[in-house]
Amino acid sequence: MSDTVAVEALDAGQAAAELERLAALIAHHDRLYHQQDRPEIDDAAFDALLRRNQAIEARFPELRRPDSPSLRVGAAPAAGFRKVAHALPMLSLANAFSPEDVTDFVTRLRRFLSLADDEPLVFVAEPKIDGLSCSLRYQDGRLVQAATRGDGAEGEDVTRNILTIADIPRRLPAAEVPGILEVRGEVYMTRPEFLEMNRQRAALGGETFANPRNAAAGAVRQLNPAITASRPLHFFGYALGEVSAPVAASHQQVRARLAGWGFRLNEPARPCADAGALLDYYREIEAARPELPYDIDGVVYKVDRYDLRERLGFVSRAPRWAIAHKFPAEQARTRLKAILVQVGRTGALTPVAELEPVNVGGVMVSRATLHNEDEIARKDVRAGDTVVVQRAGDVIPQVVRVVTALRPAGSEPYLPPEHCPECGSLAVREAGEVVRRCTGGLICPAQAMERLRHFVSRDAFDIEGLGEKIIAEFWADEMIRRPGDIFRLAARDRDRLTPLRRRPGWGDRSAQNLFEAIEARRRMPLDRVIHALGIRQIGQATARLLARNYLSCDNWRAAMAAAADREGPAWQELTGIDQIGPAVAADLLDFFAEPHNLEVLDDLAREVTIIDYEPPAPAVVSPLAGKTVVFTGTLTDMSRSEAKARAEALGAKVTGSVTGKTSFVVTGADSGSKATKARELGVTILSEADWLALAASGGHP
Ligand code: IVH
Repeated sequence: MSDTVAVEALDAGQAAAELERLAALIAHHDRLYHQQDRPEIDDAAFDALLRRNQAIEARFPELRRPDSPSLRVGAAPAAGFRKVAHALPMLSLANAFSPEDVTDFVTRLRRFLSLADDEPLVFVAEPKIDGLSCSLRYQDGRLVQAATRGDGAEGEDVTRNILTIADIPRRLPAAEVPGILEVRGEVYMTRPEFLEMNRQRAALGGETFANPRNAAAGAVRQLNPAITASRPLHFFGYALGEVSAPVAASHQQVRARLAGWGFRLNEPARPCADAGALLDYYREIEAARPELPYDIDGVVYKVDRYDLRERLGFVSRAPRWAIAHKFPAEQARTRLKAILVQVGRTGALTPVAELEPVNVGGVMVSRATLHNEDEIARKDVRAGDTVVVQRAGDVIPQVVRVVTALRPAGSEPYLPPEHCPECGSLAVREAGEVVRRCTGGLICPAQAMERLRHFVSRDAFDIEGLGEKIIAEFWADEMIRRPGDIFRLAARDRDRLTPLRRRPGWGDRSAQNLFEAIEARRRMPLDRVIHALGIRQIGQATARLLARNYLSCDNWRAAMAAAADREGPAWQELTGIDQIGPAVAADLLDFFAEPHNLEVLDDLAREVTIIDYEPPAPAVVSPLAGKTVVFTGTLTDMSRSEAKARAEALGAKVTGSVTGKTSFVVTGADSGSKATKARELGVTILSEADWLALAASGGHP
């Protein structure tokens, strides 16, 4: 039967047959998309199939099949939504797990702000809802866009779906709100509504959701807003994003404004004056947790005053002024079937527990990390054991301990592998190291594939559609062996006997999409390129430090070559970069000492334009931009951390040692050898007062 028979023209028999055909067809495309990463039809066509299925079900509700696509869980394909850049990044939160973490947090902030003992620092404590974060953008009081968090910089446009949520005001009183106003918060489902929805789905024979969080996320990411509308969703507002004019000076005021405009808020919230009050709040909420109608995974503490938040700023991707205090991890018991060994991109062998699948606090877990062989020995974990596993938030599930009373007779202690399970090379553990590594280096396909997987991952080259399975397939067919190959795929494809679009599971469109996603990444900022190389210990933050310090790829490479002596000025400069210690520097130089790595980099540079580091434009043009500053001695008015953060915000580089390249040395009380060295080298010395004046003027002396 063809799609062209109008729904209205179907009789019951035809409708039943058509529903059967659609169920199979949609399941097929869903599998291609979600499990194999190789769609054959585009999202509009997929959407049309879903709509047709729904329309027939609406006419013949009694014919709805137990395997109906409208009862399926599957999250909507990510590619189905337009990407939107967030005007202000959507950040994550640092975590606290113990009362000490909370007291440390308060002490750290007070110290950073140089607060005297009698100066107040007020926090607002709120429940941390386990849902899906969204940013709602209002223009002249009208809701014009809703976006998911995505990677924090760029999310998905889910406006049509969000408009179906009754909790969310479409209009705000235009006279009361600035022209641009972004409200951020969490989309969630209450537990009773979630349970009821699952009950109905089960009654109809459909799949059920593991927990309210997954259900809410699945509902928001439906390509068909009609499906979103049929799910019981709610929204809490907890912050503002971009605003064209300030609306409040504190979080408490923001909450009052949000409530006045008709938003629900995270309740119960409470202002707290110190760590003791925060911990009291935590204990109360923890006790009330079972009675709360929604799932929470902890509480959040936020500095109330916006001016203080401004001073505190950010570390990496989280605000310094807030922290999430998590509830203890959920635990469950299950049987450990086997201990597998995974090979990472640097050759590290990680033992992984393969488990009898078990539900741990709402999520099915079938694998858990065992960290390393010392941990296995310490806990005496063996294949066949009954173990306690736990998961907390987004972290990887862990094996906590063995229930030895249930150990089967004849089990053997774990023996670490002497050879890499992937390439057979010797696996060795160097003295003083906890990890065992595959020595196969370049010949180990597992390492190479892991490196490629890292290279295309979200925080690196971010190539959509080039997933793990496809990399493995292209590797096996020798289509990709090193990063540069990715960028030659399209050109080589033209000369192939069997082009990609003719390969099983591929089509014109999916092949074209992949090539376009790759083309879109031909220009890449230096910091991402450095991170993408997958050098040991060089994560995103360190890659940024390197880019900021060396500015261009050529300059960086020349500096790394020059630092190979591990003592001269280039080495001094490298290890003088704040937060780069000798161990990290050594890993960098080891990478550059391997000729193959240089070839890989040369090869990549031929395919990709590496964009020089561009310092973020400071709010005011500051003479500190590009300058190198060293702080020494005790500062009295501003903590060392705030001084450093402030200098960096003004575009300066803060380093730990004085060299000929240092622009200023700021000397507090009792500054010793660094001040002396600065005088010897003729570097400008500023007093703390000079520095404060400079910082206060936005960098203008
Ligand atoms: S404040 C700058 N408040 O937790 C960070 N977040 O782990 C602004 N979340 O992405 C977030 N409840 O999705 C904040 N009361 C609350 C929250 C909350 C849940 C989520 C939010 C955020 C994630 C960070």
